[in-house]
Amino acid sequence: MAQENSVTETDAPLAIVIFGVTGDLTHRKLIPAIYSLTVGGKLPKDFHIVGFARREWTDEAMREDFSTGIEESLHPDQPDALVLNKILQNSYYVQSTFEDPVGYAQLCDKLDALKVKNVLFYLATPPEVYPTIVENIRANGINHRKSGWTRIIVEKPYGRDLDSAIELDNTIHQVFEENQIYRIDHYLGKETVQNILVFRFANAIFEPLWNRRYVDHIQINVAETVGVGTRAGYYDTSGVIRDMFQNHLLQLVTLTAMEAPVNFNADAVRDEKVKVLKALRPIREMEAITHTFRAQYVSGVIEGVRVPGYKEEEGVPANSITETMLAVRLCVDNWRWAGVPFYVRSSKRMPKRKTEIIIRFRQAPLSLFNWVNLAGDAPNTLILNLQPNEGIRLEFGAKAPGPAREVSPVIMEFDYDETFGSDPPEAYQRLLLDSIQGDATLFTRQDEVRGQWAFTTDILKGWEANPVTNLPVYEAGTWGPPGLDEFIQKNGFSWR
Ligand code: BG6
Repeated sequence: MAQENSVTETDAPLAIVIFGVTGDLTHRKLIPAIYSLTVGGKLPKDFHIVGFARREWTDEAMREDFSTGIEESLHPDQPDALVLNKILQNSYYVQSTFEDPVGYAQLCDKLDALKVKNVLFYLATPPEVYPTIVENIRANGINHRKSGWTRIIVEKPYGRDLDSAIELDNTIHQVFEENQIYRIDHYLGKETVQNILVFRFANAIFEPLWNRRYVDHIQINVAETVGVGTRAGYYDTSGVIRDMFQNHLLQLVTLTAMEAPVNFNADAVRDEKVKVLKALRPIREMEAITHTFRAQYVSGVIEGVRVPGYKEEEGVPANSITETMLAVRLCVDNWRWAGVPFYVRSSKRMPKRKTEIIIRFRQAPLSLFNWVNLAGDAPNTLILNLQPNEGIRLEFGAKAPGPAREVSPVIMEFDYDETFGSDPPEAYQRLLLDSIQGDATLFTRQDEVRGQWAFTTDILKGWEANPVTNLPVYEAGTWGPPGLDEFIQKNGFSWR
């Protein structure tokens, strides 16, 4: 099916239909993103939102919720009244269960009445109802439009393992073509995540060093201060491996490790990312124990406030062995990366929020200066700070001033905020706009999601075959238990 990208097509009357509109995602992310896009004049003039959910809301109740979502996101600034009113006036609610044909009939009537040309469906519901919704979309014939396009954004989790991801894919593919399906991973919408590719492929100086000859190892660290909050029901059946590793972390791995694409269109970029997934050495059976490290937080203090332990969070079973910290040692078996380990980790309830990619270069081949080395053993490190202090930092050794024979660590730094003078826009803005414009580069393709799950499912099976009754614990507000250090030290490395 052709995906139109011309100005007229993206300017044509559009409706975004949000299934699960009453949820947190719409309130905190989607509506604020739609507001910012409207302020920036990026959406078609004739633009509507149709919310669809079970809760007994009216148009008015939904508009009220949108309004507070926008205000909260802008706080302490006030929304532009004209823009806000326009969004609210063009928003309508359909109250229905996800099974009820009457609800879908109402939705169709609404779309007809609005005379929209293009329709973007957004699945922001629990994943169990995805099949029911797409089946009802098909039954009502609204998966295609006579003129104009129909696309569907599917939120994570996209399956629980390889088999269920394939099953979900098969279900959605009975209703939508692959080029209508936008599997969202909000990490790809982050400016600094996209900057990984610009940094690597728009500059000539780093790429020649970006390989096994010069790189010693790579670390990717996603540390969060938040706990599981009110999402224990979902989280306890997911853990870091499904919540962060299968999607966000593997995205960061592929962007860091991929070859230059032949151009920057959606398929060329994703072809290269898929190749990295195919080159990941599977972690099977006992290796799922030796190549990973899991832990769980107990009560501790973050920013002066005592927070509960994971097992004390509402809805978490007392005997839960769900990990809130995961570290994995990955090997990318290709010519570029053979022998360069990737250590990736993600944890909740850390002392600080921080997402960074660390490229540790090899040492100089010969130690010519027999000086006191204050820069450590391997002073050349490149750090891509993805959040919250977005920027890039290069660390190297320099001669310390004075007669003492000392090499001292120094840095060269680029700070996003200082240079560009503003915070990067929210990920959902970019991703919503791309999906409206028919650009799927920053969305996960079918073979990519399968590659991610194939690798992740091996680890899950290895854990299942070698069960544990308890995980090591770490106090909230600390950087993790001693086992985390031992995990990397056993191979002669250390966490940054
Ligand atoms: C989500 C996970 O996908 O990403 C959350 O479900 C996690 O558990 C969040 O907190 C992290 O996103 P960000 O943008 O805050 O790094």
